[in-house]
Amino acid sequence: MDFKTLTAPKDGLCAIPADALLLVLASTSVPTTLPAPLAAAVQGVVAAGDLKLEPGRALYLHQVPGLKAARLVLAVCAPSAAPASWRKALGAGLALLKDGGARHVAVALVGAEPGDAHAEALAAVASEATYVYRHTKPSAPAASRLQRLSLVCDKAQAKALDAGLSRGLAIAEGVALARELANRPANHCTPTHLAAEARALARRHGRLTVEVLERKDAEKLGMGAFLAVAQASHQAPKFIVLRWQGAAKAKAPVVLVGKGITFDTGGVSLKPAPEMDEMKFDMGGAASVLGTFDAVARMGLAINLVGLVPTCENMPGGGAVKPGDVVTSLSGQTIEILNTDAEGRLILCDALTYAERFKPAAVIDIATLTGACVIALGHHRSGLFSSDDTLAAALLAAGEQGNDPAWRMPLDEAYDEALKSSFADMGNVGGRPGGAITAAKFLQRFAAKFDWAHLDIAGTAWKSGKEKGATGRPVPLLAHFLIERAG
Ligand code: BES
Ligand code: MN
Ligand code: ZN
Repeated sequence: MDFKTLTAPKDGLCAIPADALLLVLASTSVPTTLPAPLAAAVQGVVAAGDLKLEPGRALYLHQVPGLKAARLVLAVCAPSAAPASWRKALGAGLALLKDGGARHVAVALVGAEPGDAHAEALAAVASEATYVYRHTKPSAPAASRLQRLSLVCDKAQAKALDAGLSRGLAIAEGVALARELANRPANHCTPTHLAAEARALARRHGRLTVEVLERKDAEKLGMGAFLAVAQASHQAPKFIVLRWQGAAKAKAPVVLVGKGITFDTGGVSLKPAPEMDEMKFDMGGAASVLGTFDAVARMGLAINLVGLVPTCENMPGGGAVKPGDVVTSLSGQTIEILNTDAEGRLILCDALTYAERFKPAAVIDIATLTGACVIALGHHRSGLFSSDDTLAAALLAAGEQGNDPAWRMPLDEAYDEALKSSFADMGNVGGRPGGAITAAKFLQRFAAKFDWAHLDIAGTAWKSGKEKGATGRPVPLLAHFLIERAG
């Protein structure tokens, strides 16, 4: 989809050359600044009781006299035009247009001035509304005819808003990639498939390179924890290394580490059958790393970025790792695997140790790590754990900016107690209480050599139920964090 500004005076809205005009009213009374034909239309539908001027409401009108665009959608947002309200109004408005005949929609905000955050949100909402999964469902309804969205503004604002639109589009494309990969079923989206997608991403962008370590490479390195998870699967494990060089070589990179369990059966500690299909989304962290690289490359950010994606299946079987088995991680620390379903931390810990070689400025891991995090925070905020207050504050702020919020969780020393083992340096589980925190404490033992943060996205990476599907989170959070760092 194409997003551009369209400069037009507010009294010129009636002459805008588009298939549809989406008029967002930042008002709870009929605005006084509208050109006569539009004022009459709004007045009419409000008087008739067809449109209540309450935020989130929207109404479709066809062939309004005096309006060049054949279609008019009125959408209401709060007088402040605050981002959340703007998004809601756009969502309601675009829902009335996306399955219709309009190819080009002009969007105008009345009663407030759009800023670059509004522009970015427009790209996000439009892209979200028009995504269709078809990889294993080619019969899915035709994609929306919407091709072009124009944000109406004054000449003076055009540059800033165009920048917002292109940033929004870059992030939206990253989100769409993350959603698409996570939505693909585990028999399609294997570790090999993820590696091929990473290579394809590198082919699409200059300055982006990919290297894939095979099982024998991981063996040579001594990634005993990662390999233990992979050992019963017929799918070859892959350890994907992505590098984006957008700044001087000497500049320390940010490293993103994404959990890439393409299917989590639980292993010998087998999961119960209900909803087990959703464990195809257990590579949501990996998908968000690939999506973030896509967004970063589209924006050409002046940073160095490394992506590490350990990816494999967690399967039971005759060759599977068993409860009580002790493995030696890449760090040299030994781990007693008390529960084979706590596999995410096992593949991540070796990736965290591997991250040391990049002398990183910061390392952020992203993982659908614990059901306990879903119990703690539900599906709205991701769990954020960090030993570094500055890094934590930057990630929280980025989440707010990207409409992809997180909430900070504790890492007190006292929680570490639960990981004690009689037979190894640590166990891989710490019991049910504070399960998201003990998982983070486990990871922290492998992150002593750099500034580190951990995002538990178990509750936010996908939706269950009727609208089952990946969300692409936390690509917006990560993209905003990196935009800020690039300055
Ligand atoms: N991938 C799961 C976490 C998960 C479960 C995310 C349900 C979203 C919904 C992870 O590998 C896992 O199984 N974690 C266990 C840890 C436990 C054994 C300590 C869990 O949360 O039950
Ligand atoms: Mn598991
Ligand atoms: Zn898992």
